[in-house]
Amino acid sequence: MSGRALETLVGFLKLQPDLLPKGGRVLVLRAESRPELEIFSGSEVICHQTLKGDYDRLAMHGYKVAAEVPCEVDLCVFIGTKQKEENLWNFGLGVRSLARGGVFLCALPNELGAGRFERELAICSSDVISYTKNRCRVFGVRKDDKLKEEVVAGWCARGDPRLIAGTELKSRPGIFGWSKVDVGSELLVEHLPTDLAGRGADLGAGYGYLSYKALSLSMKIQELHVVEAEGLAIEMAKVNLAQFAQRCRLEFHWLDVVAGLALRNLDWVVMNPPFHAGKVVRMSLGGKFVVQASKILRPGGQLYMVGNSHLPYESTLRDHFAQVELLVEAKGFNVFRACKES
Ligand SMILES: C[S@@+](CC[C@H](N)C(=O)[O-])C[C@H]1O[C@@H](n2cnc3c(N)ncnc32)[C@H](O)[C@@H]1O
Repeated sequence: MSGRALETLVGFLKLQPDLLPKGGRVLVLRAESRPELEIFSGSEVICHQTLKGDYDRLAMHGYKVAAEVPCEVDLCVFIGTKQKEENLWNFGLGVRSLARGGVFLCALPNELGAGRFERELAICSSDVISYTKNRCRVFGVRKDDKLKEEVVAGWCARGDPRLIAGTELKSRPGIFGWSKVDVGSELLVEHLPTDLAGRGADLGAGYGYLSYKALSLSMKIQELHVVEAEGLAIEMAKVNLAQFAQRCRLEFHWLDVVAGLALRNLDWVVMNPPFHAGKVVRMSLGGKFVVQASKILRPGGQLYMVGNSHLPYESTLRDHFAQVELLVEAKGFNVFRACKES
C-alpha cells in the first residue's frame, strides 16, 4: 500500500467530507493497519485483506476484517498497485460492492500509471471524480444510472482462475507471479529428487507449483503441508493439488511463515522464499524462511531451496544446517540442498 497515495486519499476526503458516510459502511480493499484509517471513524469500517500478516495486524488493532468482499457499502476505497489485471479486478470488486449512490475511490501514485488507470475506470461511467496532489491521483465513480454494469462485470471476471500456459495449473491476479511459472522454481524442480518420501512442506507455496511437481515426481509422499500467506494463492493451491488428495494427506495452512509454524519432525521442505515485501527488497524475509525450515525438519531432514544468486542465503543456511550443498547456479538463481544435523 503506497503511503503517499493513502495520504493523498485522506487529504481528498478531508476536502470532500460529504463522501464520508456518517453511520454508513466503508470498505477498504487490500487494507493495511495504518493510522490514516482513522478518517473513517464515523462509519462502520470493513477491511478487506487476504494476506495473513496484514489480516492479523488489522484484527489485532480492533478492525473488522474480511477475506471476502462484502456488499452494500456506501464508500469503497482502494490503493492500487502497478499490476493491471489486479487493479481492474479490484475496480470490479469495489464498484460491485457499492450500495446505490455509493462511491468507489482509487488512489495511485503517478509512477504506477495513475492517469492510465483513471482512464480505465472512466470506461464504466461518464461521471468521474478526479483529484491530483503529491504526484498521486485519486479517482472514482458513483453507483448511479450512469454506471455501465457490463463493464464492471467484465472487470470482476478478470479475477477468474486461468490456466498457466504449458501447465495444468490455474492461477489468478493478486498471486505472486500469477501468470507464469517462476524461473527459479523451475530450476529447483530440475534438481528435486524423484523419491521424496514421508512428510514434507512447501513454504510460501503460491498457487502450488512446487507441491504439484514434488507430488508428480514421487509416489512416496505421505503427507504434504502447503503453507502460504496469500489467501488467494492457498485457494488456488487447493484446486491445483486436489487430484493428489486420494493418495497423500494434504494440509493447507493460510499462515505467515515468519510468525512461526506448529509443524515438527518433517522429512523434507521445498521452498522458493519471497524476498520482496511490496516494493521493498527484504533479504531477511528469505532468511526467516530458512530458520523456520530448520525448525520444522527432523534431525537429518532435507531442505531444497532456490533463491536469487545475489542474496546471501548460503551463510544463513550454514548457520542453521549441518551440511549445505550448492546444487546449481544458473539463470540468476542458486539451488541449495541443506541437511539438518542428525
Ligand atoms: C517466490 S514466491 C514462490 C511461490 C511458489 N512457491 C512458486 O514456486 O511459484 C514466494 C511466495 O511466498 C509467499 N509469501 C510471502 N511472504 C510470506 C510469508 N510471510 N509467509 C508465507 N508465505 C509468504 C508469497 O505470497 C509467494 O507466493
